[in-house]
Amino acid sequence: MSHTHDIQQISKVDDSFSLKELNLMLKKKNKSIPTKFLYDDLGSKLFEEISNTKEYYLTRTEKKILNKYSSKIINESGARELLELGSGSSKKTKLLILEALKVENNITYVSFDISEKALKMSYEELKNISSNLNIKLVKGDFINDLEKLDHTDKPRLYLFLGSTLGNFNNETAIKFLSNISKKMKKNDFLLLGVDKIKNKEIIKAAYNDQAGITEKFNKNILNVINKEYDLNFNPKMFRHVAEFNEDKNQIEMYLKAISDQKINSHIENIKINLGEKILTEISRKFSDSSIDEIFQNSGLETVHDFKDERNYYSLYLLKSS
Ligand code: AVJ
Repeated sequence: MSHTHDIQQISKVDDSFSLKELNLMLKKKNKSIPTKFLYDDLGSKLFEEISNTKEYYLTRTEKKILNKYSSKIINESGARELLELGSGSSKKTKLLILEALKVENNITYVSFDISEKALKMSYEELKNISSNLNIKLVKGDFINDLEKLDHTDKPRLYLFLGSTLGNFNNETAIKFLSNISKKMKKNDFLLLGVDKIKNKEIIKAAYNDQAGITEKFNKNILNVINKEYDLNFNPKMFRHVAEFNEDKNQIEMYLKAISDQKINSHIENIKINLGEKILTEISRKFSDSSIDEIFQNSGLETVHDFKDERNYYSLYLLKSS
């Protein structure tokens, strides 16, 4: 089988975000910084560390479910190609690939990500698994470029793991899932990782780990935009805040100013007052019915809900309805 680390670029990925837009977001009453700036190389490394803290139950719960059900998932989906969106570290996917290789000796794994670094990491993780595994790396934006993906006659299992759906607002979540559903053929499935509503102290603790890694992760966003846009935010002048919004059932992660501040920007200096908060990420938690509504509005149908014994987390096997 072909093993290549060549990266197919399926679109001119326009990853740009102007300083002007950022200035506007930081001028508003409700200030925010685009979440994607959390995930530079250091941020991605810090997230890996978060996933090993005792408080952050998400990654380990998802892994546990995969461990238990990967053979069922492969059998029920009949998957011969696994296509992972936003591949992250591919460690969990390995379980599914190994299962698929037990059933069929010709399996394709497609890693689809906007980050070349992430694509290379997933290649490194998987290249030595088996000569029966064909690895493809595709660089693209999974919200906008899905329709440009190659066709295949093999039953394809789309993977969107890690509860990343929780970072999207309702509109974006439905747009994203609808795009997948439209792309899915009769024999295709989607495996989606979703964090569920539970005791809010457990949720809050996951985003306020005692070792302070989430705090580092959150503050790193300021270093990222400082470098990218030549700004001079001082991370020490902000406090990490992650609170649970009970009306919206979501964690909201903020940086809260501990003094009045003026940040130099080439467009217009930015003023932030003591106590003001800048939103950096939302992480939504779903009930059976709230996620069901999203599936319905996206043209998806649940085939199987794989969950852990505490009902903390669900891996949904879905098909296009
Ligand atoms: C990687 C987006 C799933 O929302 O739980 C972890 C990111 N932020 N701690 C999440 C995150 C703060 C994580 N996701």
